[in-house]
Amino acid sequence: MVICGVHSILLTILVILIFYVLTSAYSPACLKFQHGLQESLVLAHGSQCGFCTPGFIMSMYALLRSSQTPPSEEQIEESLAGNLCRCTGYRPIIDAFRVFAKTDDALYTNRSSLSLQGSEFVCPSTGKPCSCGSKDVNGHNTTKQSTTCGKRYMPVSYNEIDGSTYCEKELIFPPELLMRKLTPLNLSGFGGLKWHRPLGLHHVLDLKARYPDAKLVVGNSEVGIEMKLKGIQYQVLISIAHVPELNFFRVKDDGLEIGAAVRLSELLDVLRKVVAERDAHETSSCKAFIEQIKWFAGKQIKNIASVGGNICTASPISDLNPLWMAAGAQFRIINCKGDIRTTLARDFFLGYRKVDLARSEILLSIFLPWTRPFEYVKEFKQAHRRDDDIAIVNAGMRISLEENGEKWAVADALIVYGGVAPVSLSASKTKDFLIGKSWDQELLQGALSVLEKDIFLKEDAPGGMVEFRKSLILSFFFKFFLWVCHQMDGKQSFKKSLPLSHLSAIQSFCRPSSIGSQDYEITKSGTAVGSPDVHLSSKLQVTGEAEYADDTPMPPNSLHAALVLSRKPHARILSIDDSGAKSSPGFAGLFLSKDVPGGNNIGPVVYDEELFASEFVTCVGQIIGVVVANTHENAKFAARKVHIEYEELPAILSIEDALKSKSFHPNSERCMKKGDVELCFQSAACDKIIEGEVQVGGQEHFYLEPQGSVIWTMDGGNEVHMISSTQYSCSYHMMTLWS
Ligand SMILES: Cc1cc2nc3c(=O)[nH]c(=O)nc-3n(C[C@H](O)[C@H](O)[C@H](O)COP(=O)(O)OP(=O)(O)OC[C@H]3O[C@@H](n4cnc5c(N)ncnc54)[C@H](O)[C@@H]3O)c2cc1C
Ligand code: FES
Repeated sequence: MVICGVHSILLTILVILIFYVLTSAYSPACLKFQHGLQESLVLAHGSQCGFCTPGFIMSMYALLRSSQTPPSEEQIEESLAGNLCRCTGYRPIIDAFRVFAKTDDALYTNRSSLSLQGSEFVCPSTGKPCSCGSKDVNGHNTTKQSTTCGKRYMPVSYNEIDGSTYCEKELIFPPELLMRKLTPLNLSGFGGLKWHRPLGLHHVLDLKARYPDAKLVVGNSEVGIEMKLKGIQYQVLISIAHVPELNFFRVKDDGLEIGAAVRLSELLDVLRKVVAERDAHETSSCKAFIEQIKWFAGKQIKNIASVGGNICTASPISDLNPLWMAAGAQFRIINCKGDIRTTLARDFFLGYRKVDLARSEILLSIFLPWTRPFEYVKEFKQAHRRDDDIAIVNAGMRISLEENGEKWAVADALIVYGGVAPVSLSASKTKDFLIGKSWDQELLQGALSVLEKDIFLKEDAPGGMVEFRKSLILSFFFKFFLWVCHQMDGKQSFKKSLPLSHLSAIQSFCRPSSIGSQDYEITKSGTAVGSPDVHLSSKLQVTGEAEYADDTPMPPNSLHAALVLSRKPHARILSIDDSGAKSSPGFAGLFLSKDVPGGNNIGPVVYDEELFASEFVTCVGQIIGVVVANTHENAKFAARKVHIEYEELPAILSIEDALKSKSFHPNSERCMKKGDVELCFQSAACDKIIEGEVQVGGQEHFYLEPQGSVIWTMDGGNEVHMISSTQYSCSYHMMTLWS
């Protein structure tokens, strides 16, 4: 039995038929929590709208359930890295879960405001020794208050739950589910979609022979995005997640064979095991994969995403494909007749998302050879942020050195980059330059010059940030050079030892667990005002019982709406052709600006935005109209069929462009001033004057709960009922009145 957190949005109900889905359910009659995690999150004020809450609970539950010992704080943060919360803030959530970590629980429970050892005070907010309450420790009343800036505040990072008491009483996994046997499945879905779950390779190959255009699916983390977000429709899906011949590891004398359907988390576990057991020189590639997978998506994706799915998607920014290529991996491919061929990873990627697989073929397995003595493989990845982000540029590099008299010369090399071309790209001229050269400073300078021309990015290269990406290409190789020198340091006759000052360039990043605190003054008035009571919905939220608009059962004969959105940033609408939508299944109506009763203008304060764009659109995604149909799928399908003809207009897309063309919102000049600024500059009263420009990437926050409403009328339309995802219900009253 495996318990793991997964990305539930991408895990279709078809794929999960085999799993027992543990949800954060509770017994409504007595409001009893099933696990201390739920109680802890409530007490630590870790949920606000609660939409993200079941996801946090389940990720944390999976971690606790799969750990033999209490997890470390770092593991807790790692397991939550793929969970987003837009309104609570992460500090209370982490505080709620920290009590289950492998630290001294006393640091996080109500004993925390007392001194643990002598005069050392442990801050109840951070759980670390600090001086914020040291006065209390020396004899005064300590109970629940700490002192900050001379005022008495209640620390908010405070939790009464003792996490250690929960490890003995775990929920029982239903034994009947453990006994359940898998069976092959064939199901039909929306729009004639066929879904198959074969349980043997022969069955997969038969299906592939019958449906050559069928899409194979394992984790659905690519196919799901294509179908849900890009509107791509596949007629036949074959889930190969449970095919044993595609789910295996074979440790051989010359390397590791990995089944194509193996999940990334499983690969990580096996690589760690191999690294611990085998000679260090054999596992340089394995270590590089371990490091790269660390920065590959969140745990929920790694638990479902497969090795083969990543390879066959052939994304130009795949984090693993440059490494498979550099490490000399081989791919085994099988066709519908059962014939097997092998190709080198470096020859497999043919073009943008195009691979060397015929319609009758599938990827069977991957063979990763062990590295030899003095052969080194290293990974690189630069993203906007380290955790859970796709690469701007990544790379896999391999070098094999051999002793040649007094020198160490390059016997073989492969330098591969991702994010620089439509495919993962091998720097072939750089490789030719390196071979035979001595691994020294002269090689570095020469290689950088060759590399600059070898991996060349045009000024208008797709993806932008050209200067930055160019510098990444060179700096990755520079780091690789230093890292290899460091590996060779101390080896006989390797003269070039790495200066200490350069070491920081090759140290891998290690993020300490986060610390945050919030203190506020408690001024109680009446029963609840001013006191940090838990909010009423939180118990429903942590148990997964809270209902949102989308959970509401639809009344019979309901119609569903989908929006028609602008695909242009700035344009005039010339015509709207609804014929495609009208002939779509289940279509019931299309409503545009001319159909809006009352006023078409809306806005939070100033009503200066159109509900449905009438003549001009000013951004991609602006709402032009709404289609209603008998199901949500049909409504979305029909909305995509509304054809709009635009006349494109020049667009201003940056603040710099807006400044240049003096395009300002009217009456929006704002200047923040405190004191007499001019006088201050003139009289040199300032210690320091800093001049310059600051750019901030501030953005409006986004909602996690999909925006939705369920509306029905009664009394012949005189009474309107509405359930909606909103924090501002009175605006709905106003809008309804207007219409
Ligand atoms: C939130 C998120 C974060 C991500 N982060 C990263 C990241 O950091 N780095 C990165 O590189 N990628 C990332 N990805 C991309 C994606 O997760 C990976 O590409 C993943 O490994 C795909 O595996 P899967 O099993 O989910 O593929 P699926 O969606 O199931 O399949 C993907 C494709 O591979 C084909 N396929 C699968 N198996 C075979 C086979 N045996 N033979 C032939 N074809 C096959 C399928 O037909 C399909 O075309 C991310 C995706 C998401 C949604
Ligand atoms: S509580 Fe996390 S998204 Fe609202």
